[in-house]
Amino acid sequence: MAEQPARPQRFSGKVAVVTGAGNGIGLAIAEAFAAEGATVVVADIHAEAAQRSCAGLVAAGGQAIAVTVDVSDEAQVERMVAEVRERLGGIDILVNNAGVVLHKLVVDMSRAEWDRQVDVQLTGPFLVSKHVARHMTERGQGGKMVNISSLSAMMGRVRGAAHCASKAGLVMLTKVLAMELAQHRINVNAVAPGLIDVPAQRDEQTLSLAYRDSYVRMIPLGRMGETEEVARTVLFLASSEADWITGQQFLVDGGTMAGHYALGEQHDHAGPDGHT
Ligand SMILES: NC(=O)c1ccc[n+]([C@@H]2O[C@H](COP(=O)([O-])OP(=O)(O)OC[C@H]3O[C@@H](n4cnc5c(N)ncnc54)[C@H](O)[C@@H]3O)[C@@H](O)[C@H]2O)c1
Repeated sequence: MAEQPARPQRFSGKVAVVTGAGNGIGLAIAEAFAAEGATVVVADIHAEAAQRSCAGLVAAGGQAIAVTVDVSDEAQVERMVAEVRERLGGIDILVNNAGVVLHKLVVDMSRAEWDRQVDVQLTGPFLVSKHVARHMTERGQGGKMVNISSLSAMMGRVRGAAHCASKAGLVMLTKVLAMELAQHRINVNAVAPGLIDVPAQRDEQTLSLAYRDSYVRMIPLGRMGETEEVARTVLFLASSEADWITGQQFLVDGGTMAGHYALGEQHDHAGPDGHT
């Protein structure tokens, strides 16, 4: 069998912290970094998931450590940053990926449910970015931050108020941080995935088949995205190839946001006078 070409090692000697790397998109991002030479910090609220992901990365020949952290708890975030500095020397890359999903109408949503979603998806990235940025600026070697937003930052969804609002907030946090940290050579960008095929989405409780089918009809490229496709964009933004890109949001969505694709060619059915 022909030998596989060696992967580029764009991240040798770099330390990348990926929150929510115990599952789904975060795990794919962690795998991609590890495959290109980074030492990955698998940071997740679920200790078991973090350990399992970490063991997988190491078994595949990568370098990784697992840290249990709730990104919405500032004391835990500070401890994580201190632990990573102590064990690995410093942090070069941060990916704010951890997320929770809750589908509820505003009229049915409790204050606690709203708070949890916003705490994890907006306050969490604020806290982790704050403490990692303090470390990066003190260290003076620059850095890269990538926030995982969502199409929900730009397009509302029924039963998604807290999710959409937190992701929209995350995009604005990205822009402000990009400006505040530019003088320290820390780039901050966002990646907005469309509908991605993660194990959690395969659970009918999370995403009904009917919803998935209707959604896929809105995707010009005709399928859900793969976690690796999000990871590749994150790695580009974390690499030196993206040194002059900051404060931006990149859509990885199969063309979903290009327009009203589900309407198809209906507009072509013009009336006798040529007007629809
Ligand atoms: N899957 C999609 O279609 C999709 C689309 C757009 C955006 N996103 C975003 O991508 C990110 C990852 O989503 P996913 O689909 O992989 O979800 P997932 O549920 O598979 O993984 C989320 C991970 O975050 C961890 N987590 C949850 N709360 C945490 C906390 N407080 N602290 C630390 N870790 C925590 C979970 O334990 C889990 O491992 C989320 O921010 C999500 O909003 C996903």
